[in-house]
Amino acid sequence: MNQRVLTGITTTGTPHLGNYVGAIRPAIAASRETGVESFFFLADYHALIKCDDPARIELSRLQIAATWLASGLDPERVVFYRQSDIPEIPELTWLLTCVTAKGQMNRAHAYKASVDANMEAGEDPDAGVTMGLFSYPILMAADILMFNAQRVPVGRDQVQHIEMARDVAQRFNHLFGGGKDFFVLPEAEVEADVATLPGLDGRKMSKSYNNTIPLFEGGAKGLKEAIARVVTDSRLPGEPKDPDCTHLVTLFDAFAKPAQRQAFREELRAGLGWGDAKQRLFDQIEAEVGPMRERYAELIAHPERIEETLQAGAAKARAQATPLLKTLREAVGLRRMHAVAQVTKAEATDAKARPPVFKQYREADGRFFFKLNAADGKLLIQSGAFDQGRDAGQWVAKLKREGAAALAGAPFEAAEGVAADELAAALASFAEES
Ligand code: TRP
Repeated sequence: MNQRVLTGITTTGTPHLGNYVGAIRPAIAASRETGVESFFFLADYHALIKCDDPARIELSRLQIAATWLASGLDPERVVFYRQSDIPEIPELTWLLTCVTAKGQMNRAHAYKASVDANMEAGEDPDAGVTMGLFSYPILMAADILMFNAQRVPVGRDQVQHIEMARDVAQRFNHLFGGGKDFFVLPEAEVEADVATLPGLDGRKMSKSYNNTIPLFEGGAKGLKEAIARVVTDSRLPGEPKDPDCTHLVTLFDAFAKPAQRQAFREELRAGLGWGDAKQRLFDQIEAEVGPMRERYAELIAHPERIEETLQAGAAKARAQATPLLKTLREAVGLRRMHAVAQVTKAEATDAKARPPVFKQYREADGRFFFKLNAADGKLLIQSGAFDQGRDAGQWVAKLKREGAAALAGAPFEAAEGVAADELAAALASFAEES
C-alpha cells in the first residue's frame, strides 16, 4: 500500500535558503520515491493566525507556490493545493474542535509561549492571544486527518501538534466509529540528517532572527550580497582557517558533493581568503539555484498558471475530502431527514429481531406468576396466580415450545391491547430459537 506523506507550509514569508535545504528540497526528493503519495499544501488559513496583512498573505502564497514548482515539485505526481480551497478542512476542524479537550490545548507550546511571555511582561496571560492561535493545533489536525496521512514531515517544533492530531483522531474514532476507524493515526517525521542552515549571524537561519539568505527573490545579485554579509573572523588571506569553525562551510556543504566539500576544506586550511571563499560559496549555490530561479521568474510573471495548477490540485484533494467528510457528518448525526426515518426503521427492525422475555416471579402472598414482555417492554401476557412455581414454569415452557397453539385452553390470554397475531409472532420467535 502507498504511504501517504503530507506537509503544509505556512504562507507568511518569502522562502529563504534555510527553507529550501531544510524542507522544500527533501520533501520534493521524497515525493519522487515509489510507493509514496505526497500531499503538499499552502497553509494559508494558518497564515491568517500569524498575519493580518492581506497584501503579505497574497504575495507569500504566490511566492511559496512558485518556489515549490520552480524547485521541481511535479503537480502531476503530488497533490499540491491551498488549504483555503478545501472547505472540508474548516468543516472537519469544527467536528474535531467539539471533541478536543480545552485543557489539552492549554498545553500547546505555541499558546503556552504566548502566555509565558505575557506573564513575564506583567500582562494579562491571554493578552493578544486569538482563538485562532489557541485552536491552531486543531486546524492542523484537520489538515492531516482529512487525507489520512501516515507520515508528516515537520520541524521539531511541530511534533507536539502531530501528537495532538493523533489524540483527537483516536478520540473521534472511539466516540463515533463504533469499532471502525475513520482516521489513520499520523506519525511525525523529523529529518535527523537534514542540515539546519546557519543564517548571516551564525544562528539558525530564520525569518524571526532577520538573518536569512533569500532563495530566489533579489536574483543572483541579492544572493551574492547576502553571502557577503555572512560573518567571518578577521583572519587574512594566506592565514590558515579551520573549516569546522566557519558557517561558510555548513552553507557550502548543503549544496556540494563529498569531493567538493573536501576540496573547499583543503583550500581553507591552505589559507583561502574569506572573500574568495564567499565567491566559491556563491558559485556553488548558484549552480543549483540559478536554473530554478529562471523558472521561478517565469512563474511569478504568470500567476494565472499557478492558480490553475492549484485549482487542479484542489480538485484532486477534494475528491478525497468530500466523501470522507460526508461519512463523518453522518457519523456525528448531521444527516438528511430521510436518513433519520431510515434509522428509526432500522431501530424498529432491530427491536423486532430481539426476542421477547419471560419473567417468573413470586408475590408477597407466596403465589407464583409469570409474564411475557416484548423487547421494548410492552406487556404481552400477564398470567394469573399459580400455587406451585412448577406450574408457572411448565406453562412458560409450553408457550415456548408450542407457541400460540398453547394459548387454547390456557388460564391466561393476551394482555389488553395485544392483537392475537402480534402475540403469536412473539411466541414464534422462541420456536425459531430452539
Ligand atoms: N504548522 C506548520 C508549521 O508552521 C504548518 C502546517 C500547517 C502543517 N498544517 C500542517 C505541517 C499539517 C504539517 C501538516 O510549520
